Amino acid sequence: MKADVLLGLQWGDEGKGKVVDVLTPRYDLIARFQGGPNAGHTLEFEGTKHVLHTIPSGIFHADTLNVIGNGVVIDPVVFKKEVDSLLSRGVDVRKNLKISRKAHLILPTHRLLDAASEAAKGQSKIGSTLKGIGPAYMDKTGRNGIRIGDLENPRFIELYTALVDKHKAMLAHHQYAYDLSALEPDFFTALEVIRSIPFIDSEYVLNDALNSGKAILAEGAQGSLLDIDFGSYPFVTSSHTVTAGTCIGLGIAPTSIGKVYGIFKAYCTRVGSGPFPTELNDETGELLRTRGHEFGSTTGRARRCGWLDMPALKYAIMLNGVTELIMMKSDVLSGLDTLKVCTAYRYRGEEITHVPYDVVNEHIEPVYTELGGWSEDLTGVTDVAALPDGLNRYIDFIERETGLPVTIVSVGPDRMQTLLRTVLA
Ligand code: GDP
Ligand code: IMO
Ligand code: MG
Repeated sequence: MKADVLLGLQWGDEGKGKVVDVLTPRYDLIARFQGGPNAGHTLEFEGTKHVLHTIPSGIFHADTLNVIGNGVVIDPVVFKKEVDSLLSRGVDVRKNLKISRKAHLILPTHRLLDAASEAAKGQSKIGSTLKGIGPAYMDKTGRNGIRIGDLENPRFIELYTALVDKHKAMLAHHQYAYDLSALEPDFFTALEVIRSIPFIDSEYVLNDALNSGKAILAEGAQGSLLDIDFGSYPFVTSSHTVTAGTCIGLGIAPTSIGKVYGIFKAYCTRVGSGPFPTELNDETGELLRTRGHEFGSTTGRARRCGWLDMPALKYAIMLNGVTELIMMKSDVLSGLDTLKVCTAYRYRGEEITHVPYDVVNEHIEPVYTELGGWSEDLTGVTDVAALPDGLNRYIDFIERETGLPVTIVSVGPDRMQTLLRTVLA
């Protein structure tokens, strides 16, 4: 078997959690491959809403094994909150969750360093979620990090103290005031919760699963336009959010990747700083934010909203080798007479259709193609045959531009508000 991948093609929050939950019955195993508690993946079913940060979105399906891969960074404090919240919903993660020994830990001092670094940047801050992601990945690549497997080491506390001492020196350099003693008790309590989950050599578990014919779905976090290499650097996250990140973050060979589901909103949103060519700072932007409830699942911050950006979408499709598209939040566009889609950029006096190197300092003006909208409310539609013509024309346009099928259309936040346009293989 090959591992399928589901990842975001924009700046995150495309609706990955919802669709992973919908697709989970088709898979034996769901595996997160990168990111950490900067992610907020929302699932809605049976009238309740649930936000996951570190735990894969297949967790509500008791027969599916969920794996936190080696590419993930884990904050035990956030993880414990997730476990407690799931327990209150009757879900005991000890039954179907396992953690890679090679995943890295986020320490309280990583969070402090994130805050100190953003404060030092002032106006040019990244708009980080302040979850300690950047500092934790810096320690990983700097070869100073502490891994989940180190929790099995009797010398864990020595490793912890040595790294914290290093961090204290860095915080002193930033002249950043903090009270670590207020943070450590929660951290050490939460470590015991982590210890109650089985640790695994996940690269073996996943490859053995593939070899024995099990179906795996890899769940991405963030979005392709936040990738450390291909996003609008430095306004990016610190991990590889593209398909290649699946191979690294799970230990699966490129030849073992099967389908790549690329998920996008019918418009665009971005939370945090950084370029956003199609951003709407007007009443249409406000309408999208209000109708789409565009407020961060992790930080509650208002998301910036704008029209669909085709050069950026095609860039993400190219980087990821997307095989099929999933369009989310179509219902939010109902009632708009005209929909705009950016099909090119005006850049340095020229019209271009690629994403240029310098998107941060140069002015990028979107060139729009206008399409008719639809007035019908989509949230109660249960059959693709009942989708309005205006929406079908919008989807046709996207399929023609990208050369890919839109196989799933989402018309509301609930699990049930998901329409399959073809029978999925
Ligand atoms: P993720 O990070 O990619 O999992 O996405 P988030 O959960 O951060 O953000 C997606 C938001 O949109 C959540 O609040 C979902 O409940 C909601 N959502 C998902 N699909 C749809 C949809 O088709 N229509 C509407 N109106 N909301 C949706
Ligand atoms: P999900 O998985 C949307 C953004 C932050 C900031 C930048 C860097 O829910 O789609 P970081 O905390 O990683 O240092 O922040 O990336 N960001 C996200 N935006 N969805 C996410 O995750 C995000 N994770 C990080 O807002 O601009
Ligand atoms: Mg999110």
